[in-house]
Amino acid sequence: MEDCKVIFYPEGRTVTIQKGMTLLEAASRAGIYINSICGGDGVCGKCKLIVREGSVSAEPTNLLTREEIQRSIVIACQTRVNSDVEVELPLETRLEEAQILTESHRKKKFIGLFSPVEEVEGLEKLEKGISFSHSPLSTKIFLEIPPPTLNDSISDLQRIYREIRKHKKLDALHTGLPNIKKLGSLLRRAGWKVTVTLGTRDQITEILQFEEGDTSRSNYGIAIDVGTTTVVAALLDLNTGKLMGTKANYNTQISYGEDVISRIIYASDEDGLHRLNYTVVENINALISSLALEHNIRLSDITAILCAGNTTMIHLLMGINPASIRQEPYIPTANFFPVIRAAELGIKINPRGLLATIPGVSSYVGGDISAGVLASGMTDSDDISILMDIGTNGEVVLGNRDWLICCSCSAGPAFEGGGIKCGMRASKGAIQTLRIDLVNNTVDFDTISGAKPRGICGSALIDAVAEMMRWKIIDRAGKFRHELPSERIRKTEEGWEFILVESAKTATGSDIVINELDLENLIRAKGAMFVGTEFLLKKVNIDFDSVKNFYIGGGFGNYLNIENAVTIGLLPDIPLERFQFIGNSSLTGAKLALLSTSAYRRSKEIAEKMTNFELSVEPSFMNEYTSALFLPHTDLYKFPNVARKLSWVKENKCPLS
Ligand code: FES
Repeated sequence: MEDCKVIFYPEGRTVTIQKGMTLLEAASRAGIYINSICGGDGVCGKCKLIVREGSVSAEPTNLLTREEIQRSIVIACQTRVNSDVEVELPLETRLEEAQILTESHRKKKFIGLFSPVEEVEGLEKLEKGISFSHSPLSTKIFLEIPPPTLNDSISDLQRIYREIRKHKKLDALHTGLPNIKKLGSLLRRAGWKVTVTLGTRDQITEILQFEEGDTSRSNYGIAIDVGTTTVVAALLDLNTGKLMGTKANYNTQISYGEDVISRIIYASDEDGLHRLNYTVVENINALISSLALEHNIRLSDITAILCAGNTTMIHLLMGINPASIRQEPYIPTANFFPVIRAAELGIKINPRGLLATIPGVSSYVGGDISAGVLASGMTDSDDISILMDIGTNGEVVLGNRDWLICCSCSAGPAFEGGGIKCGMRASKGAIQTLRIDLVNNTVDFDTISGAKPRGICGSALIDAVAEMMRWKIIDRAGKFRHELPSERIRKTEEGWEFILVESAKTATGSDIVINELDLENLIRAKGAMFVGTEFLLKKVNIDFDSVKNFYIGGGFGNYLNIENAVTIGLLPDIPLERFQFIGNSSLTGAKLALLSTSAYRRSKEIAEKMTNFELSVEPSFMNEYTSALFLPHTDLYKFPNVARKLSWVKENKCPLS
């Protein structure tokens, strides 16, 4: 088969592919992240590229305007390469480096005990409020072993075991043949001064490796949140618990499907499964090597990894076909995985280093949620708490130290910018907070990294809707009040829309708008999350007043305006001080479990204890859901404070009412 060279501009990155492959595949091989929400099915129209040079053949499509075709714009997933080609990535096609959740910009009142996870320096702070002992998944101990004599003639291995037990109370202790083979000569060469690395594998302690001399000060671990959209890795010093650094990249599986369902479909044949497994392993390897390089750490000194992710992501990471997850009765192959060697998955740390995963509950409530519950501390208290993880598959957990129930709500991708005309993920250039002043005809906003705005992410979308409710720009069904004399409201071929940022101020050169279809999608998403939460409360016959803490996690970047989330009806109308935005709780839970085997055990208890309810089989669900498809809800008695505030705007503020 003939090879073709594809050059991607503006970087000039080059990749060689086989003739006939698509430009989307070429981009993926070149390590270029491009928007491909439908995973290459040719329906989302997000993967546009400009062909500068060379011959391609494109499938006919109605996703391009005549003007775009004249400008040589093509749909990358539907365009095959016939010769060497040069293509250009328009700004809106590019996925910028993922925004790592940090808490540093959050309003103080919403920073809780566990919130500033990325700022945590040292185990001391991590333990503040979380009562887990420091007992990492792997530890190093320096041993000065008395050499054998005629009176003390036990074997080398028994001698090591005896010495270890002087330092640590351990019942079961073992090691593998490759270590034993090297042991005799290593001990004698090292003058009986060696460092042992101990790892915990399901209650059993294993000697992972022997090293000559004292290397005990260099022992590191990696906590990973394997998300559907992003993979985030944190490097920790296992001796001190110190967080050394955090890095994130996009989960390159995005090129094969935006959400878990499209990934499951892609993985249904051996080839697809292999590709998805390979890409996520490569993502993890890239993050680890970049963290190690930055902190001048040898990969061999990284001895443990702890991963948290949803059930599909963990199946794909393990190389297990997740097909049964989407087939009734929706059963995964496993929720609990044994601790394995990272090398078994091709992950490049110490070849004998361990990899553990936080267990999941069901097909749609995964280890990321068990990790979130662990990180929130809700099982440390008698108080009833809720954890809501907002994403395409939103999950809600209700409970306390004695019981936990959960459900998964299929919210759709609106909160992550999907299905929204100018929506984007929380990455560089995304508008993340927004304020409308209709009197002065201004929209104030700020963007991630302070870049020129490219689009709007979930947090600002919530702000925009709440602001439009306050100014009565939209009615409670999410329809524009076209009669308002504002030039920001206009009608296009796609219907009514509101201009948030004019084209002259945007990075893309196009207006950033919000339209009625966007509002419909957002209302559906918030409705699903709210109904899921109410449903759990009804299951145990309590109301929101009984909920003392409401933890919120999700990929919102740095900000989530809780008051606005209540205004639109995503969150219940309870006192604001009960809410805590805990950001990437999956990563926090993974860090805790990496640093403490008791925290890791707790995550297993959490997963075992949690009872999952399947919303779709509940007869009342559809009615409840329909009632929630209003702003904030059909039943305003559920949102008394919001109702009061909205009429205040009408009476006193908005001159256009
Ligand atoms: S149209 Fe190409 S990825 Fe969706």
